[in-house]
Amino acid sequence: MKVLSVVGARPQFVKLAPVAAALADAGVEHVIVHTGQHYDARMSDVFFDDLKIPAPDVHLGVGSGSHGVQTGAMLAGLDPVLDQHKPDWVLVYGDTNSTLAAAVCAVKMHLPIAHLEAGLRSFNRRMPEEHNRVLTDHAADLLLAPTQVAMDHLATEGLADRSVLVGDVMTDVCFLVRDGVADSPIELPDSMDAGAPYLLATIHRPDNTDTPARLEAIVAALRDLPVPVLLLAHPRLVAKAADHGIELTGGTLHQTAPFAYPQMVRAVMGAAGVVTDSGGLQKEAFLLDTPCTTIRPETEWVETLENGWNILDNDLSRLRDVAVRERPAGAKPAPYGDGHAAQTVAQVLIERAG
Ligand code: UD1
Repeated sequence: MKVLSVVGARPQFVKLAPVAAALADAGVEHVIVHTGQHYDARMSDVFFDDLKIPAPDVHLGVGSGSHGVQTGAMLAGLDPVLDQHKPDWVLVYGDTNSTLAAAVCAVKMHLPIAHLEAGLRSFNRRMPEEHNRVLTDHAADLLLAPTQVAMDHLATEGLADRSVLVGDVMTDVCFLVRDGVADSPIELPDSMDAGAPYLLATIHRPDNTDTPARLEAIVAALRDLPVPVLLLAHPRLVAKAADHGIELTGGTLHQTAPFAYPQMVRAVMGAAGVVTDSGGLQKEAFLLDTPCTTIRPETEWVETLENGWNILDNDLSRLRDVAVRERPAGAKPAPYGDGHAAQTVAQVLIERAG
């Protein structure tokens, strides 16, 4: 059996790592196609190196652009690649433009599509990811859902007979890396003290970065937090802040380039809290027992909200009071599985091929 994975953006490389290992263990032929959506070494290469992902077999080198330009270039690049390989499954991951492009390309060529991390919904149609998820789920033949909530969303949309609950592969990679870095030092910039309480922050969603007033308000709120804040600045944030003339430092705020995955996991483990608008990081904070405050009106990962492990604060009115808080008391539920989802993914792909 041949599986062809299409990835392109940082969170997809993280999900690819355990899946590639599980497919290799199961003896499945696996072709990796990188669209080139993310291309900076810190956004791409370090993930392949640190997470021991085989180098992509094909690299489309698409790069950045508006949604239409970027997605269109991926479609044009993928056509001959899918035609050449004719895989048993085109496996797509998550909700980026690379996901949608691969799904559209495959469905037009009558190639079976499996969507990993199917069924997530924010119900916020301003998010590009929401269009990407919904369109991909409805194009796909096999929907690999991470949680029961995702399964329920798929059933509501009439997709129950194509859906399988496999668990969350991000748990697999997160726990594996956590166990590997637990005894290593926390690497923070020299301007910060890893022995004292600190917060870790990321902001990259268009709704938070693209309007000067909104970005200014978020940066002002981060500068005003009670302990030092390390902002891991995504290139999109850096570009938008420069356009708007906004400094990403000042007050308690420190800025640095995005971390590699192991460095990130270690830093989250040692942090007093995480402040973010990332989907993946909300869940990583939850998995690593660190309270998270999310600068968005809603979350797809609703399970993290239980017991206050994650708090939504889109209007920034509570951030100063809640960013540093005690870990919630009591037993934490485990809605994202035990770290063996990728094996199930490989099994289901094998069982359902053809
Ligand atoms: C993309 C995904 C988003 C995901 C995020 C993870 C879409 C619509 N969005 O958002 O779901 O959460 O990745 O990081 O697919 N840039 C660089 N170097 C890079 C990559 C990007 O400088 O290696 C800059 C460029 O200015 C680019 C901008 O970042 O225009 C945005 O990149 P893009 O891939 O369009 O979207 P992300 O914001 O990264």
